[in-house]
Amino acid sequence: VTKPTAAMLEAARNCAVGDDVFGEDPTVVALEQRIARLTGKEAGLFCASATMTNQLAIRCHLTQPPHSILCDKRAHIYKYECGGAAFHSQASTTAIMPRNGVHLTAEEIEANLVEEDVHTAPTRLISLENTLNGVIFPWDELSDIHQLARQRSIPLHLDGARLWNASVATGISLQAYGTLFDSISLCISKGMGCPIGSVLVGTKPFIERARWFRKLFGGGWRQAGILASMGLVALEDYGERMALDHLHASQLAEACARHQLACQLPVHTNMLFLDTGARSAAKLAAHLQQHHRILTMPMSRSILRMVVHHQISKQDIDHVIATLPTALSALDADPTEAHNDHEDDDDARAANGTSTAYYYRI
Ligand SMILES: Cc1ncc(COP(=O)(O)O)c(C=O)c1O
Repeated sequence: VTKPTAAMLEAARNCAVGDDVFGEDPTVVALEQRIARLTGKEAGLFCASATMTNQLAIRCHLTQPPHSILCDKRAHIYKYECGGAAFHSQASTTAIMPRNGVHLTAEEIEANLVEEDVHTAPTRLISLENTLNGVIFPWDELSDIHQLARQRSIPLHLDGARLWNASVATGISLQAYGTLFDSISLCISKGMGCPIGSVLVGTKPFIERARWFRKLFGGGWRQAGILASMGLVALEDYGERMALDHLHASQLAEACARHQLACQLPVHTNMLFLDTGARSAAKLAAHLQQHHRILTMPMSRSILRMVVHHQISKQDIDHVIATLPTALSALDADPTEAHNDHEDDDDARAANGTSTAYYYRI
């Protein structure tokens, strides 16, 4: 997991603070305005998590049930937010697995829109994620989906928790991405390296409404400038740091390929989803952790997630690359260790003690 840098801790110690429930914390206001400006939006709202900014966005875009959201089946809002859309917004969800296995297309979104009818919960929001599992959503497809959403008067939200990575890798500015979406949530944790936090951006009235719901959800906070100050530090040099993370991730993917470990998805940014085949991903993760102090995360029986961040150095990457053959041989030498015949996804996570945690590991 990332730790705040010395510069972040220094900023947190020295920043000006006020009561953010009253909109009086100058450091929070500075972070909100900065990220709103970067994405070409009128206003921003700093919250504790991307789960909160996504759920606030959903709550504010949707008004009167029956209504539904259309998203990717692998989207964070669908898989990892405790069914929040149903709980907070009384919304059902149309979750689609992209036919190409990588990203949704305008064509399949159009084909899956729920139309108005006395029997249905019509689609009133389309939500996309970029990056999703580290994979960049192609710009042309995003533009087509934007056009479709406009034609159908359906608002478009972006879970941009990792949008920084997409922007750094493609060179497409945050502002350009901002033109396609009505609202975006962007994390200052994850690749940005801060301990927690996410900023929701949109129009002024939309953010005012979100601020009200944030209070209702119990998310109004006081001297949050201490956290916001770290985000302002992260904004200073994230581009260079992320470019290096992406290079490290691609080096790692190449090394894995040399050991017949293919990636389930293209490695566009800082995430790898390794296919461990007949080997148990959970047992490989446990072995790497116990014997080599390498933290990874099994996602299913045979998919192992690795995430690279700015506190993982070139030496760390070299250590992982050098260690992989040894770890794989050790696992293969002991057949009771290596195979995953009787595991299901939950067992795989539990075996590594990660059933509930969502770690940012290599
Ligand atoms: C794409 C995406 N959206 C949202 C979240 C939720 O972030 P948080 O942990 O801040 O709630 C995550 C967390 O990993 C994520 O990867």
